[in-house]
Amino acid sequence: MDGTIVGIDVGTTKVCTLIGEPDPDGSIRIVGLGIVPSAGLHKGIVVNVDDATAAIAASLEEAEKISGHPIERAYVAVTGDHITSVNSRGTIPIGYGDHAITTGDVTRAIEAAQTIAIPHNRRMVHVIPRTYIVDGQDGVRDPVGMQAFRLEVEVHIVTAAVASLHNLVRCVERAGVEVTDLVLQPMAAAETALSSAERQMGVVLADIGGGTTDIAIYHEGTIAHTAALPVAGYQLTNDLAVVLRAPLEAAEMLKMRYGHAIPSRVDDTDRVDVAGFGDGGLQTVPRRYIAQVLEARTREVIHLISQETKRSGYDGLLPAGVVLCGGSTELPGLKELARHMLDTPVRVGTPQEMRGLSDAVSRPAYATSVGLLLWGMHHGADVAIHPNGRRPATANVLGRFMGWVTRAFFPQRAEDHRS
Ligand SMILES: Nc1ncnc2c1ncn2[C@@H]1O[C@H](COP(=O)(O)OP(=O)(O)OP(=O)(O)O)[C@@H](O)[C@H]1O
Ligand SMILES: [Mg+2]
Repeated sequence: MDGTIVGIDVGTTKVCTLIGEPDPDGSIRIVGLGIVPSAGLHKGIVVNVDDATAAIAASLEEAEKISGHPIERAYVAVTGDHITSVNSRGTIPIGYGDHAITTGDVTRAIEAAQTIAIPHNRRMVHVIPRTYIVDGQDGVRDPVGMQAFRLEVEVHIVTAAVASLHNLVRCVERAGVEVTDLVLQPMAAAETALSSAERQMGVVLADIGGGTTDIAIYHEGTIAHTAALPVAGYQLTNDLAVVLRAPLEAAEMLKMRYGHAIPSRVDDTDRVDVAGFGDGGLQTVPRRYIAQVLEARTREVIHLISQETKRSGYDGLLPAGVVLCGGSTELPGLKELARHMLDTPVRVGTPQEMRGLSDAVSRPAYATSVGLLLWGMHHGADVAIHPNGRRPATANVLGRFMGWVTRAFFPQRAEDHRS
């Protein structure tokens, strides 16, 4: 279908496929969706290709059924604690005389910024230009057409373990869909959960999902830092299961139905029945006790967000505070606890700028899914990743994706491979 954008958010808890049609007003009309429980993932990473493929296929099938259109290719969100990011700078001479900067110069500067040492088992997922410096003048957003002797660019580079990318791409391909682009989950979520004023002022986006807490820090309108932390909703559930000696399913139900992140907000006379393992039958547990268990791990997650912000070097430069999304932000009291611990403005970000079947995905858990569609709309051909604006034509789609990454970033290596 021409003009249609598809996003697949392969989360640890759920797989969500959305089909969207861009509206002229800048919003996206959701015309198909498939939300199914995830399988074969641990902390955001594929650990069982068959199970993950089956879950992705089920999600695609549901979305196709609703929209009535077959899905051929899609943007896919990626995360996991194998993700790392770094800011780098590239400089090129423009020449003497009346030289104006061309798009070719910008591409060369971006390529120069990519000449950083990356282990052979890692690949770049994103190379995002943050700002340009023209003859020492910084803060330039678009240098094309400016007269200059020297062009510098600052880029944000996200790298990931090749094996993890490979497994994710393979699952999507085995489910019958070509991967248009991989997009870092919090950068997708930021597309819909953050306002441009927040990005300009400086803000932390933290997506607390089921398996990972994904972070993207924006400053002066551009991405400044990204990270994926391997602690999220699953650990909260697991803590309850261990402490109460109850199955994970029972602990998950308790968390969703009776959970709270601030024990003092829970009536200390409230009690709930929990089914334990074996023949133990029902045990009666104070609701406040459940909240105490959840509070401990929630504090840890918020502390990790704070530590990562300090590590980024942008702490103190983020007056717009923290925007939380992801399913775990549904835990009552979590936002207040974060506000108290971080001593900064905190709000929960829900997907914006969408129409059509939007009710089903209007919760914070779907920020990444909706954001993927907006990413496709806004960044369709990421110039830093496709310097030639072309995709290589090889027979195998997985080979095509990996080959495309290789050619884009390691042209010499790719030539070696072909000869
Ligand atoms: N009302 C609620 N109270 C507490 N936790 C909740 C609530 N609703 C959902 N959650 C938790 O949200 C988590 C799922 O969030 P989400 O859908 O954002 O994860 P995901 O995208 O599948 O995973 P990830 O992005 O981490 O790989 C689960 O751990 C679930 O228990
Ligand atoms: Mg998620």
